[in-house]
Amino acid sequence: MTSNESIAELERDARAALGAIDSIENLDAWKVEFLGRKGRLTQVLRGLSSIADIEERRKAGAQANSVKAHLEQTYEAKLRERQQAYLSSVIEGEGLDVTLPARPLPRGRLHPVTQTLRDVLAAFASMGFQVAEGPEIEWDRYNFEALRIPADHPARDMWDTLWIDYEKDGSRSMLLRTHTSPNQVRIMEKTGPPIRVIVPGKCYRFEATDPTHEWMMTQVEGLAVDEGISLSDLKGTLAEFARRIFGRERQVAFRCDYFPFVEPGMELRIDCFICRGEGCRTCHHTGWIEILGAGMVHPEILTNVGYDSERYTGFAFGMGIERIALLRHGVEDIRLFYANDLRFLRQF
Ligand code: FA5
Repeated sequence: MTSNESIAELERDARAALGAIDSIENLDAWKVEFLGRKGRLTQVLRGLSSIADIEERRKAGAQANSVKAHLEQTYEAKLRERQQAYLSSVIEGEGLDVTLPARPLPRGRLHPVTQTLRDVLAAFASMGFQVAEGPEIEWDRYNFEALRIPADHPARDMWDTLWIDYEKDGSRSMLLRTHTSPNQVRIMEKTGPPIRVIVPGKCYRFEATDPTHEWMMTQVEGLAVDEGISLSDLKGTLAEFARRIFGRERQVAFRCDYFPFVEPGMELRIDCFICRGEGCRTCHHTGWIEILGAGMVHPEILTNVGYDSERYTGFAFGMGIERIALLRHGVEDIRLFYANDLRFLRQF
């Protein structure tokens, strides 16, 4: 028997066997027998090396490769055919019960802090404020220096800072912004008055956490600069904001506060939702929860960005969105917002 004959014989056998196959298991066995690593085709290919005549060996090799390609194609076609047949038989056999209730699809939702942030932005948008953004990684210059807080100023203690790179001479100090106030200067450097803008963003502080303090929190900065802006515009804007977000029945109080970049400065507090003013752990036994700092933009800052501070005045505020979410929903501890407990988050 020559090699050519044995290739032809192998092809005949393989095709006959494949034609008779009616299950995927038998198809697997066929593949092992004819195309497997130790299968009949491999044996034939190995035997080719014993053909002495070069021309005859070349021809036999080409024939063997063509048979191999054909057999592989036929095998693939048969496999698809058997799989389809199997699928059809399963579908027919099982039937489809269209009266069964559908499986519920779990629906995602926005994080409570994101929901509150959106409501806050919408409240200010309806009062004519535009939304802007600024970098979370900030220069010392914008976070402190340009806000009248030089390196040796005691007010730096108000914002415990996470430094990224620190030069003692303050020349190139980079940090995670401790508040959104750097954007006051960034915006005024880029554009002239009139300005009515709000800037949301994450802020970071190197401080111990407690029921009202997190090391990462979201602030919304507000800035309005124009001719004739006064403290009563600031109070009116914030009182209207508080009414929209908390409702008319909540108590709101302004109190003097100090921030180097405003004069005068104040804070806005809302009555504690837990004790309603009696004093408890969440409000640090004061009866109030502070939600924002605010004031009239310091004239020196207006002058430094090239504005005429005789002609223009402005107000600014910076609020904590987690604190607002906490007050709105009656959450006792701010740390719950970022503990990633779905049992908590699914309630909103
Ligand atoms: C500031 O950050 C000033 N930049 C606010 C400001 C802007 C004043 C413009 C004047 C003019 P303060 O550190 O008080 O101020 O923070 C502002 C608000 O952020 C607080 O009222 C509070 O709601 C929130 N906040 C501050 N620290 C935390 C914290 N650790 N965790 C959660 N919320 C915080």
